[in-house]
Amino acid sequence: MVRNREKEESESRLIPPVSISVADSTSISLIKVISTLIIFVLGIVIGLVSSFHLRKYFSFEGDQFSFKSIYFETEQFSSRDNEMMLVNGERDDCLSMDRFLRQGNLIHQMTDKELFWRASLVPQKKEFPFRRAPRVAFMFLTRGPLPMLPLWERFFSGQDVEKYSIYVHALPGFELQVSNSSVFYRRQIPSQHVQWGSVSLVDAEKRLLANALLDFSNERFVLISESCIPIYNFSTIYSYLMGSDHSFVESYDDPSRYGRGRYSRWMKPDIRLAEWRKGSQWFEIRRNLAVRVVADSKYYLLFKKYCKPSCYPDEHYIPTYLRKFYGALNANRTITYVDWSQMGPHPATFVAANITVGFIHSLRNNVTQCSYNSRNTSLCHLFARKFDPSSLEPLLNLTSQVLGF
Ligand SMILES: *[C@@H]1O[C@H](CO)[C@@H](O)[C@H](O)[C@H]1NC(C)=O
Ligand SMILES: *[C@@H]1O[C@H](CO)[C@@H](O)[C@H](O)[C@H]1NC(C)=O
Ligand SMILES: *[C@@H]1O[C@H](CO)[C@@H](O)[C@H](O)[C@H]1NC(C)=O
Ligand SMILES: *[C@@H]1O[C@H](CO)[C@@H](O)[C@H](O)[C@H]1NC(C)=O
Ligand SMILES: *[C@@H]1O[C@H](CO)[C@@H](O)[C@H](O)[C@H]1NC(C)=O
Ligand SMILES: *[C@@H]1O[C@H](CO)[C@@H](O)[C@H](O)[C@H]1NC(C)=O
Ligand SMILES: *[C@@H]1O[C@H](CO)[C@@H](O)[C@H](O)[C@H]1NC(C)=O
Repeated sequence: MVRNREKEESESRLIPPVSISVADSTSISLIKVISTLIIFVLGIVIGLVSSFHLRKYFSFEGDQFSFKSIYFETEQFSSRDNEMMLVNGERDDCLSMDRFLRQGNLIHQMTDKELFWRASLVPQKKEFPFRRAPRVAFMFLTRGPLPMLPLWERFFSGQDVEKYSIYVHALPGFELQVSNSSVFYRRQIPSQHVQWGSVSLVDAEKRLLANALLDFSNERFVLISESCIPIYNFSTIYSYLMGSDHSFVESYDDPSRYGRGRYSRWMKPDIRLAEWRKGSQWFEIRRNLAVRVVADSKYYLLFKKYCKPSCYPDEHYIPTYLRKFYGALNANRTITYVDWSQMGPHPATFVAANITVGFIHSLRNNVTQCSYNSRNTSLCHLFARKFDPSSLEPLLNLTSQVLGF
């Protein structure tokens, strides 16, 4: 029956051009139309009857019958596909929860457009049908190797693997060389070329967020650079982030030419100068905001179009977007320490000679106070940058003594 209906549809699709071309001439054409219709209806009837008979006669021969395989080629393929899907479906449960929840492999063929769409899906049901241990997603944005990798390995060593996940966005073609026992093993996501200072840096951030969002257990998302280190142990960082009512995206109004000076009036009226914000690229956001960032196209496109050098989208897009719509959910400060004291375009880079016990203490205590869940605290930074590769060895020497891991 399905077969006949399809045939009917495909034939009736052929009719309109005929009747249209004839319609504008005289009554002779009307007769033509009517006769065409009659022939058409007759055709259908004959078709119905003959295919019914043919099927009756040759049904036992199935697919081998050459007449059928010529005339119903497309149909045969589709019905065969359906059969295969059913067979596969029985053998291999494509819709299993396990597969949905745990991507064993981070490699996929999705385009950014497809990935961002998938990542923006949000369950409406509050309860999870599985035990969900909220995770911190550590998202490493790097050009090449991670010089601080051994320190991070030590940081994660012995921690509950249910409480964190790792994602690495490196330049295309670069492969992180780690042993199969490393927590970084096979944690690279499909990446694309990044030009520092351009909107492609925001693309990479969104790509990291989107890949991490596919894991429904990820709750907090930290962006980390290759020169960044943790300055507390895992349990301290985990409970600090999980316990926070706010996300940590630095967002402030800088009246100078490095802040407001980068605003473009073409962004009006969607983004007004009063809404323009600046902040460090190294953010920490909660799942609900990560979804919003990945889902946004409108404001992202404004930045892509009008925030060009010397405007840096990675320092303005997320701080401005969150300020405009989700300000109350943001702590407006960063949890990644950086030393801007030596005036200049770049923050200080710490080398081997800088690494002492006193120095680590000063990283932790340099800021006297900040707000955490509307209370004052002296624990303001969980991470610090920028560390030169030479600082790795002395840092490793100090971990158990001062860093607590
Ligand atoms: C890890 O690598 C080692 C040596 O390269 C190999 O013997 C071992 O089977 C690997 N383990 C897994 C789980 O792949
Ligand atoms: C982590 O560090 C805190 C102090 O910073 C300490 O109280 C806690 O015991 C440490 N946790 C572990 C598992 O070492
Ligand atoms: C962050 O800034 C927004 C907008 O200015 C404000 O509404 C919010 O209360 C601030 N967050 C905190 C924790 O003060
Ligand atoms: C780090 O060491 C360099 C070279 O020894 C020195 O110039 C710089 O002031 C030090 N920075 C800090 C923060 O101690
Ligand atoms: C904080 O950092 C600044 C600049 O690096 C430095 O001058 C100051 O002494 C530091 N404060 C503490 C308490 O370490
Ligand atoms: C937090 O510290 C600021 C000064 O840094 C002070 O004005 C404020 O009252 C303090 N808030 C609380 C709740 O203690
Ligand atoms: C690290 O510690 C070991 C022994 O504890 C010492 O021999 C080595 O020189 C230290 N390395 C650095 C860079 O401080």
